[in-house]
Amino acid sequence: MQATETNPNKALWEKGDFTRLAATMRGSGNDLVDGFRIRAGMQVLELGCGDGTTAIPAAQRGAVVRGIDIARNLVAAGNRRAAEFGLANCSFEEGDASDLIGVQDDSFDLVVSIFGAMFAPRPFDVAREMVRVARPGGRVIMGNWIPNDPTLVAQILRIASAHTPPPPEGFVSPMLWGLEEHVLDRFGAAGIPAERVSFSRETFTFVADSSPAEYLQLFEHYYGPTMNAFEAARKNGTEDALRTELTALFEHENTSGQSDRTVIPATMLLVRVDV
Ligand SMILES: C[S@@+](CC[C@H](N)C(=O)[O-])C[C@H]1O[C@@H](n2cnc3c(N)ncnc32)[C@H](O)[C@@H]1O
Repeated sequence: MQATETNPNKALWEKGDFTRLAATMRGSGNDLVDGFRIRAGMQVLELGCGDGTTAIPAAQRGAVVRGIDIARNLVAAGNRRAAEFGLANCSFEEGDASDLIGVQDDSFDLVVSIFGAMFAPRPFDVAREMVRVARPGGRVIMGNWIPNDPTLVAQILRIASAHTPPPPEGFVSPMLWGLEEHVLDRFGAAGIPAERVSFSRETFTFVADSSPAEYLQLFEHYYGPTMNAFEAARKNGTEDALRTELTALFEHENTSGQSDRTVIPATMLLVRVDV
């Protein structure tokens, strides 16, 4: 594992405190796991698991869950949460989804990644690693945000990108994982024919007991990608404009009907692979 100072992918996610956002994602994380067909004793690997929004509900349904995440602080938070829930069948460790050092071939019934592995560099390596560690007859499930989608996450990215310098040469957008043709290419290169990959669009809902403007503050102060956008905007002198545009987005997307509560549904691409 590269040290934080030499690995921008790790530095991005150790920045701030993603657990503050994850706390607003628990309901949908739990509902999503209902569709995973978990059986007691099933061996589950979750990549980019954060502090366990889906790993913990999977363990609560009886799976033996190993969570791997690049961010040291989120791994520690996940292990704390597993202990608080009394889950001896759920553990979290540091690692990189594009290079699963120490994870054996063919060892998991289910490999999951919900908005996690999509952020790892080298997407073809990610697909290859997911397929390598799933057992033949096992499954891979990925939840990926969709580029140019009209809902929250793609729109945050669109607005933020107008305030940030262009990415370095050769940068592959994580959002390409939200396009079927790229997913098929990547799993195809890992030896999975297209007929073993299926897709659906699902709704994932962010819920906070605060106004949309207060909820946005969590993104501004604790979520690495938006923290970076605000830092860049501060340098450009466009910080207020960025905040105004994002506030308008959060208010527009809020379906709660209340000014002091935020409920924002966002559309994701759910990918299911039969290995
Ligand atoms: C948007 S968060 C989602 C976390 C969690 N899956 C959830 O739904 O709450 C993205 C997660 O991916 C992790 N991540 C990013 N790049 C990674 C990589 N190369 N390998 C493993 N995890 C990575 C981050 O540390 C972070 O926890």
